[in-house]
Amino acid sequence: MNVEKISNGDILIVDDTPTNLKLLTSILTANSYNIRPSSNGKLALRSIESKLPDLILLDIIMPDMNGFEVCKKLKENPRAKNIPIIFISALDDIKNKVKAFKVGGVDYITKPFEAEEVLARVQTHLKITFLQKNANKQNKLLKETLKRQRQQEKMLIEQSKTAAMGEMARAIAHQWRQPLNVLALYIQSIQENFEYGDLDKEFMDEAVENSMKQLNFMSETIDNFGDYFKPNDKKENFSLLKNIQKNVYLLVAEFKTHNIEIEVKGDDIITFGYPNTFRQVMLNLINNSKDAILSQQKENKELIGIISIELFNSESEYKVTISDNGGGINEAIIYKIFEPYFTTKFQNQGTGLGLYMVKEIIDRYYNGSIEASNGINGAIFTIKVTKIKN
Ligand SMILES: Nc1ncnc2c1ncn2[C@@H]1O[C@H](COP(=O)(O)OP(=O)(O)OP(=O)(O)O)[C@@H](O)[C@H]1O
Ligand SMILES: [Mg+2]
Repeated sequence: MNVEKISNGDILIVDDTPTNLKLLTSILTANSYNIRPSSNGKLALRSIESKLPDLILLDIIMPDMNGFEVCKKLKENPRAKNIPIIFISALDDIKNKVKAFKVGGVDYITKPFEAEEVLARVQTHLKITFLQKNANKQNKLLKETLKRQRQQEKMLIEQSKTAAMGEMARAIAHQWRQPLNVLALYIQSIQENFEYGDLDKEFMDEAVENSMKQLNFMSETIDNFGDYFKPNDKKENFSLLKNIQKNVYLLVAEFKTHNIEIEVKGDDIITFGYPNTFRQVMLNLINNSKDAILSQQKENKELIGIISIELFNSESEYKVTISDNGGGINEAIIYKIFEPYFTTKFQNQGTGLGLYMVKEIIDRYYNGSIEASNGINGAIFTIKVTKIKN
């Protein structure tokens, strides 16, 4: 749509004097405007019901309903309230002019008028309306784009949660292997002792007590796992140390099979946020460290992987660092690693969304920052969150 086209707009003229109506109509039609003449307020209001004009020229003194009343009615109508109204009147005093603007008019032309003046004012107001409509449209588009972006981000969080669920299920399988073996051994030995007549109270007590220990451990794992997938419905104060330990607790058994140790050090910190999102952050970072260590171990089979998580608390901010001995991040790509879909892992082994999500969560939910750097033996990720003063 261009301005020229709009300026040949649809104009409703409301005037009870036939000569005025005719004159205005001829001036405006000569300049390619489309004119809808109306001889009184009621007819004008009816006419806008079927189709809205782009602009209204409105006389003030008319029988039955004067121009001010017509204007008020138009401004009360949500569909018509944004149509620019130019008053045309022989009333030349300030009071009436002020009133015309007060009831919502955008301009005032005094009779007798010059054709050029009418044309200039009509053109100006049509242009303003066009620009405003355009700005509103852009604004709406922008809002829609933002909304879509938010939805996409939400979807990404969900996706990465599903991926994390798979990881967690694997971690649980590892954690259960050991206690399941112990339970199997006890069950077998109960049968054997029974067959040999050795099934005394002492043996039974020990078998029951130890079996219960294993079962409790297994059920704790499940509780922990359930926690992880609770919906993020409310922000709360929570302990970062406990939050991290819960993750580590679930991962430790599986990581041991890869010769990887995880250590957690430092002060406890109470923060305000969604505990699950923080667990997601830590899980992504820990898994990245694990991947880096695993690929180092391909060349150096003896390498014992170490992932070290440290918490630092100060009055104004807190810091969490995750460092590993996985060889570090290639300096040539380090500036790109937080971008969505950036990955150096082979097909299907990485989506490249992990660090993007981590950054989003830290930015959005914690108002903090995350940076990556290289230490002597591997990567260091540093999360910083400024404390909010009450
Ligand atoms: N601890 C680390 N050591 C070395 N490189 C790392 C480390 N963490 C991240 N990277 C690099 O950053 C890239 C992007 O990481 P990101 O977590 O976003 O995606 P990904 O791990 O490749 O895929 P996904 O997280 O979906 O499994 C990785 O492919 C890797 O090259
Ligand atoms: Mg990752």
